[in-house]
Amino acid sequence: MAKPQKRYVCQACGSVASRWQGQCTDCSEWNTLVEEAGAVVTPFAAKHHLQTGGRSIQLTALDAEVSLPERMPTGIAEFDRALGRGFVEGSATLIGGDPGIGKSTLLLQAAAKMALAGHSVAYVSGEEAADQVRLRARRLGLGNAPVQLAAASSTRDILTTLSTGAPPALLVIDSIQTMHSDLIEGAPGTVSQVRASSQELIRFAKERGTALVLVGHVTKDGSIAGPRVLEHMVDTVLAFEGERSHQYRILRSVKNRFGGTDEIGVFSMQTEGLAEVANPSALFLTHREEGVTGATVFPALEGTRPVLVEIQALVVRLASGATPRRAVVGWDSGRLAMILAVLEARCGLSFSTCEVYLNIAGGYRVQDPAADMAVAAALVSALSERPIPPESVAFGEVALSGELRPVAHAPLRLKEAGKLGFERALVPVGVAKDADRAKGHEGAVTATGFRTLGQFV
Ligand code: TYD
Ligand code: MG
Repeated sequence: MAKPQKRYVCQACGSVASRWQGQCTDCSEWNTLVEEAGAVVTPFAAKHHLQTGGRSIQLTALDAEVSLPERMPTGIAEFDRALGRGFVEGSATLIGGDPGIGKSTLLLQAAAKMALAGHSVAYVSGEEAADQVRLRARRLGLGNAPVQLAAASSTRDILTTLSTGAPPALLVIDSIQTMHSDLIEGAPGTVSQVRASSQELIRFAKERGTALVLVGHVTKDGSIAGPRVLEHMVDTVLAFEGERSHQYRILRSVKNRFGGTDEIGVFSMQTEGLAEVANPSALFLTHREEGVTGATVFPALEGTRPVLVEIQALVVRLASGATPRRAVVGWDSGRLAMILAVLEARCGLSFSTCEVYLNIAGGYRVQDPAADMAVAAALVSALSERPIPPESVAFGEVALSGELRPVAHAPLRLKEAGKLGFERALVPVGVAKDADRAKGHEGAVTATGFRTLGQFV
């Protein structure tokens, strides 16, 4: 009989190696290989192409009648928006996020709301004792919701219990990293365990029509820890993001087999749990005073949803010849260097003896190149000590030539700015022309177009 082979599984990407290595050859992560027992047998049948003896599966026409799966709204509008109108029965959803970001809070609130709306809901916590969850529910004012609660971590126990009687409409597993399947060896949290436990739970959900929600903690690099392998297995992946030191949280759809992935839900963490934020722009705009230099408002886009954020720049002239610092919070430092270079080379503004600080207010992160124009405007305003009119927004991409390029979804951005009482927009010419044509409705923003950054300066 062959000796059972040892296998080493990368905890970051799930790839399998036959011997231990310091670095995973697939994802290049260091120290992620862990020995895991488990069958890597080459079954006799596979070896000899003996592919008979299975049960026959049913083949049906592509154009056959479709019965659309039932949607269960959570009753939390921002959550439903990210999901695309609610959970789908017989589906699996993964919610990933940093520890402490509020995943348990969000799911407890959703579970309670759905239970109060008449759905049968089971909440299984592998991290907290049942009483801890109970106390939290009480603190959130949800103590009386008819949620079935358990503290357990064995998938066999959980599924045996749920298989007797009617299956719950919603099953929350908090978190998948604490679950343990006795079908394979290994400690909870390893890739093999996460995969095996999920497989069992997902099979149950599909067979019994339960909407399954798996909570997953993420690693530093932002991937869902180990369970990146999980992303393929579930129907929907939601990422719960935010800075712990800031109030706001964004629930972003990363994968959705039943809907789009361009919607987000915005929440703010309060003492009484997560509150929905229907108007995110108000959250990120700090109280604006007239006459402040170095601040602009940028209409960012989250999926198809505009969010107005404030960009703040501070320019400090250095008397000595020390190397000036450049520090950025919430934006790409490479992009800041580029904008500074364009301002210097194309517009004759020198920042070489100045320290430059750039901050996106409210702990928000901007990745959109459309922010170039707003950043440039903030920098110019800070350097020249001339304030930007407080009722204006700015957006547009800056090319290395100093030209301003139009960006995606300009009408949406202008509309949101108008809705929040902004009157002017500093934009690339193309955008201004389109805006002129589309004008006529109430609360419209007057767009001022610039061909180059030099023109604006
Ligand atoms: P939690 O939902 O436990 O996070 P996760 O499940 O993602 O690890 O949330 C933890 C944090 O949220 C904790 O630091 C305290 C804070 N919090 C509030 O600010 N208000 C509340 O009402 C609750 C329940 C938690
Ligand atoms: Mg938790």
